[in-house]
Amino acid sequence: MNRKLLLSGLLGTIALTLVFSAVETAFSGQNKSMKSAGIGATGTLAGTGTLSGSVKAPKEFKAAKVYAKNVDKNVVYMVFTEDGKYQAVDLFPGNYEVSVTKNGFSGGDVQKVSVTAGGNATADFSLKEGTYRPNQQMRIGLPKDEPLLAYDELYPPGHARETIERTCILCHGPDFLPNKQWDESQWNAAIDLMQNPFDNAGSRLVPGTFAPGEREELVAYLVKNFGTESKKRGLVVPDAPIDEKALGKAMFVEYHIPPLAKGERGFHDAHLSQNGDVWYVDARGLQIGKMDPRTATWTDYPLAGPQFRGHGLTQDASGDLWASGHTGFVRVDSKTGEIKYYPYNPEAKKPPHGNTPFVDSKQNIWTTLSWSNEIAKWDRTTGEISRYKGPTDNSFAYGMVMDKNDKVWFANWWRCKVTKFDPENAQFIEYPALTRPCTMRRVFVDHNGMVWYPLESPGKIGMLDPNTGKMVEYPEPVKWGFPYDIQEDHDYNLWIADSGQGGGLIRFEPKSKNFTYYPYVQRTDMPKIEVSGQNSIWYTTRSADPKDQALGVLYPDKSKIKTLAASY
Ligand code: HEC
Repeated sequence: MNRKLLLSGLLGTIALTLVFSAVETAFSGQNKSMKSAGIGATGTLAGTGTLSGSVKAPKEFKAAKVYAKNVDKNVVYMVFTEDGKYQAVDLFPGNYEVSVTKNGFSGGDVQKVSVTAGGNATADFSLKEGTYRPNQQMRIGLPKDEPLLAYDELYPPGHARETIERTCILCHGPDFLPNKQWDESQWNAAIDLMQNPFDNAGSRLVPGTFAPGEREELVAYLVKNFGTESKKRGLVVPDAPIDEKALGKAMFVEYHIPPLAKGERGFHDAHLSQNGDVWYVDARGLQIGKMDPRTATWTDYPLAGPQFRGHGLTQDASGDLWASGHTGFVRVDSKTGEIKYYPYNPEAKKPPHGNTPFVDSKQNIWTTLSWSNEIAKWDRTTGEISRYKGPTDNSFAYGMVMDKNDKVWFANWWRCKVTKFDPENAQFIEYPALTRPCTMRRVFVDHNGMVWYPLESPGKIGMLDPNTGKMVEYPEPVKWGFPYDIQEDHDYNLWIADSGQGGGLIRFEPKSKNFTYYPYVQRTDMPKIEVSGQNSIWYTTRSADPKDQALGVLYPDKSKIKTLAASY
């Protein structure tokens, strides 16, 4: 993140944050009043309330999910039970619908309660043995109640399966193919599409992917197993391990964005800001906007057209927001909301498709351009944009960061490499991952300068030591992980956004190599996570239903929440 890499930016942000929280404390008295409420003695922020209760069941269970939805503000809180008790803190006053879910149980139906400032509402539940099943599939739009099969049943073993694993499943995950019921010409059309070099982003399957006869064998396998006579099916995914003590401390909050008058919402990335607002890119709704987590109020700034549809977002030292849009940088004045556009390449025949913007120490703005496989720099002094072509074609330059020496690091999504770019000599160096093939969305440089990268399909995370070029990869403990982003918190733990078990965050402690799973509030992937100054983890619910799009935050320790504001 900028905060770690730009010393001046870092100091600036801290100074601003301190000033801001001092002002805020004076205004709203947002400090913990150490009221004893329910279990433990967790305090609650002034002006908020708590909710607690017990969950009973005829047989033992761990970490049931308790959902408390503030229906006035459309904010959903989720906490986990510990020894059958739960507590949610720092809740906006208002009317709530509280419910409980646990795999294998039913009966946690909605109870209406009212939460008041300084008050502690309660709701107790009795679960029955039942059939509730969480949605663990990666893809949106899959039927919730479709039959789930073991991997070997879904994908009968053999050479064709191996081909599918290193091609289709590699990028699409295991739930994609069994939900298509296609004939031979449709499967052939799909493969043609993936091989098409003239597609916007170039070939997904490059020449040489199939040995002679392999494509025909693959199509026959697809028609046999996922043909017009087949039914939609999903994969049985193992439950994530439950660390009830860790989950008992945690609280998720999802702030749901109000619907647009016309069109659907669909978040991509979010960015925390100097004044505590969370900025977002609503890529589907064509908005950039901000949400104040202290009040759950939203402000949209509409983009001038789909050509500016964006992915990532960053903030420069002056407070301006920069998004990488399809055809150019989008700059938003955070005070006035005024938007300016800076095309990457006015001559480009297809949109270069900006992905992740970043600010360097001289306040130049950088981004990856995924479809043209370039990186671009907007020069603060000259106002010019320069572009540099990545060394591997069709590699889809995706997530990018800068280290503290202003070196650029980015992930080749499709070709599974960490790439370094040195702006001083315009040289690229590529580091192919150890587990190949893989797909890789993002990279992160930690406080020691080590470069971390998640490997989606292999379900691993890796670390590259840029001093020696040595790489080491750690498999996640649960099969079918699909890690997307990785970030470090201020205690030097890593956080992984993973859509494998239906979505969730995973904490990885580099010292003990321990993985702790924090399962999702609603099924989604999370294309980018942001760690706040108080170690809370912000995310967007990109692949959730367009009606349920939300900015989410995980507080790993709800007793330590100092403010609802979100700054680095
Ligand atoms: C290098 C990554 C990559 C590989 C390999 C790949 N795909 Fe895709 N595919 C994509 C992306 C990215 C899209 C567009 C976005 C999406 O739908 O996920 C896409 C889209 C598709 C679509 C159209 C979208 C839809 O939902 O119907 C089909 C069909 C498809 N792929 C089938 C396949 C099949 C079959 C294979 C294996 C032979 C395959 N893909 C291999 C990346 C890949």
